[in-house]
Parts: sequence; structure tokens; C-alpha cells
Amino acid sequence: MPHDHHDHDHHDRRHGAIEGRHSHRYNRIARLLGPLQYRRIAADIAAAAPESAAVLDVGTGPGILLRILAKRRPDLRLAGVDLARDMIDHAARNLAHLDPAPDLRTADVAALPFDDAAFDLVVTTYSSHHWSDPETGGAEIARVLKDGGRLLDYDFPRGPFDAFDDLAETARTPFRSPWMPFMRTVRFEAAKR
Ligand SMILES: C[S@@+](CC[C@H](N)C(=O)[O-])C[C@H]1O[C@@H](n2cnc3c(N)ncnc32)[C@H](O)[C@@H]1O
Repeated sequence: MPHDHHDHDHHDRRHGAIEGRHSHRYNRIARLLGPLQYRRIAADIAAAAPESAAVLDVGTGPGILLRILAKRRPDLRLAGVDLARDMIDHAARNLAHLDPAPDLRTADVAALPFDDAAFDLVVTTYSSHHWSDPETGGAEIARVLKDGGRLLDYDFPRGPFDAFDDLAETARTPFRSPWMPFMRTVRFEAAKR
């Protein structure tokens, strides 16, 4: 159950987690702007995902990308993790209408609560620059990907793209949304080695 956020308005001490009133503000902005910003990213992911693919969104925040993806590709099996429990609470509310419900969990990318080879595709948007240990995160993403599986990371140019040693980089290109041209974004693509 969602809990009372007013009792603990703070940035969580765990590096990078967006909790409390910060998660509330993020949820409001993401619900407002998300459909514009994520339209192109969702289209890109929808084009990359095989039929009935299992897709994991790391650092899903309030789950707006998953909401748009579910609408475009109802065949996908969707999962999302976030380090911040408050964000997962927002995501659960924003995705409550979906059937089947996405598998949402509070977890660190550096310790993903999934079996080996559970996913065809791992995606992540504007989250990887927050990760405190991107090397371990990259190793975990490689572990949960099936053979031939792929990572798509959309992040600011300062994202830790060079830290994903356990994956083989296949592309790194600028990715600009016509809706949000001021958000300089890199589309980083890698495959399981
Ligand atoms: C800027 S938000 C992006 C949220 C969402 N992907 C979006 O595009 O709206 C970054 C998210 O990454 C999460 N995060 C930070 N460090 C993380 C980690 N080590 N593992 C998983 N999630 C993390 C934060 O809690 C936050 O929700």
C-alpha cells in the first residue's frame, strides 16, 4: 500500500533514489510531459522488441514509459524496477489499469531480483547517470538478458555508457525528441556478449 509521504520528505540516503516529495513532484511532471517526451522513445523500443518479448525497464520511476509501451504493444510482458519504493508506488497507481499487471519491484540495478536470462530487452531512460555502481548494474543487466538480448539506454550525454563492460556496444547515437528538443539525449544500444 502507498504510505504517508509527508512523514519522510527527504532524498533517500541511498545514492540516486528519488523518494518522498521529490518522487511526488517527479510523478506530476512525468504524467504531464511524459506522453510527449516518451512518444519517440516508446516507438523506438516498440520497433526493437520481438513479438511477446519480456521487457524490463530499469529505474522506471513513475512508470510512464511502461504505460505508453503497453498501449503500443499489448503483446509485451512488462516489468519495472526502481531503487525508490515511492516511485514504484507511483508506477503501481499509474499502471493499475493494465491487465496483465506489469511486474513492478523495488530494487537496485546492481542486484536485480530476476532469474538469469529472464528478458529479451532491457530499457532504461534518464536513470543510468544516477546509478552508484554502473559496472555492477551492467553485469546484472547482462545476467538477466537472454542470449541475443539487448539493452537500450536513453540518457543524457554524461550517462555511464563506458561502464557497461559485460555488454557489447552496438550503437551510440544522439536521440532528439521533436517534442523536447532541449533534452540532449544519447541512445546507447548494446547486446549480450
Ligand atoms: C530521473 S528518474 C527517471 C525515471 C523514468 N525512467 C523516466 O524516464 O521518467 C531516475 C530514476 O532512477 C532511479 N534510480 C536511481 N538509482 C537507481 C538504481 N541504482 N537502481 C534502480 N533505479 C535507480 C531513481 O529512483 C529514479 O526513479
